[in-house]
Amino acid sequence: MELSKELENYKQEIDSAATTEGLYLIWVKYLGKKGSISLLNKEMKNIPEDKRAEFGRVIVALREDFEARYRKKEIELKNKEINEKLEKESIDITLPPFPIKRGTLHPLTQVYYEIVDIFTSMGYELATGPEIELDFFNFEALNIPKEHPARDMQDTFYITDEVLLRTHTSPVQVRTMKKYAPPIKIIAPGKVFRCDSDITHTPMFHQVEGLLIDEYSSFADLKGALVTFIHRLFGEKIPVKFRPSFFPFTEPSAEVDMGCVICGGEGCRVCKGTGWLEILGCGMVHPKVLEAVGYDSDKYRGFAFGMGIERITMLKFGIDDLRLFYDNNIGFLKQF
Ligand code: DAH
Repeated sequence: MELSKELENYKQEIDSAATTEGLYLIWVKYLGKKGSISLLNKEMKNIPEDKRAEFGRVIVALREDFEARYRKKEIELKNKEINEKLEKESIDITLPPFPIKRGTLHPLTQVYYEIVDIFTSMGYELATGPEIELDFFNFEALNIPKEHPARDMQDTFYITDEVLLRTHTSPVQVRTMKKYAPPIKIIAPGKVFRCDSDITHTPMFHQVEGLLIDEYSSFADLKGALVTFIHRLFGEKIPVKFRPSFFPFTEPSAEVDMGCVICGGEGCRVCKGTGWLEILGCGMVHPKVLEAVGYDSDKYRGFAFGMGIERITMLKFGIDDLRLFYDNNIGFLKQF
């Protein structure tokens, strides 16, 4: 039984199909609803009865041959396409990854840790005290009399007459001495509060307090400790000088200046042309303070110091506006 020669074209078409998509179109062309092999079934009724069985067999054979060729080609093309895809999408594991965005410590926290590290390496222990403090610890025991300007309503956040937000970290000195017998060697970092807000003041800021009590310390020891500290924080070459000053809780008292890190001592806006920057207050602990905590002031002596972390951080990083620390500007903070 002879079929149209055209029907045999599928062999060559399947052979030359280049993609699974193109192959599928050949399926549609021959075996789809209106495909030329499918349509042969409709021819059946026009075939003389005695030839029908043979015609049927020819169609089935044709179909089977088509499907066999089709499946074989399909597997071939699928493999080829998968391999091409793998090739194209292969991952280059030598490429650098996307940078992982990590947070950084706030510049104040960094300097805070650095200061603590320097002093703890020198044998100072960490001490803390409450931010809500009693008048006794913040003022009275530190020999700050009732009429002292530091108690002025302008500066101190009072909660009641006797309770306030600590205005400095010095009350930690008193608390530590009340709790422990000498010798004492502590630093006490933390938040302090003053009712003041402008370009150079924020109502909350940070200080580090230091206290050493034993039976023989001298001003020379104080000097040695602080010069070592400043050299470790700002570099060995920075000149340091002690200038007489006054604090109610130390006698004698001094303020410590270091050579201006911004201009190198030439004189600039930051050091107001002097070439020097004041960075901390210190002195020998006043006998009245020792007595206020019940120490024998004839037997015990020692020194204390206090500094502002904001100021030191500004000098260390050359930051000229205090408010930047509290703006939470990511662009600013990311630089550290
Ligand atoms: N408490 C002082 C202040 O807030 C800083 C200070 C000065 C602390 C001298 C001390 C010191 O321990 O000896 O300005």
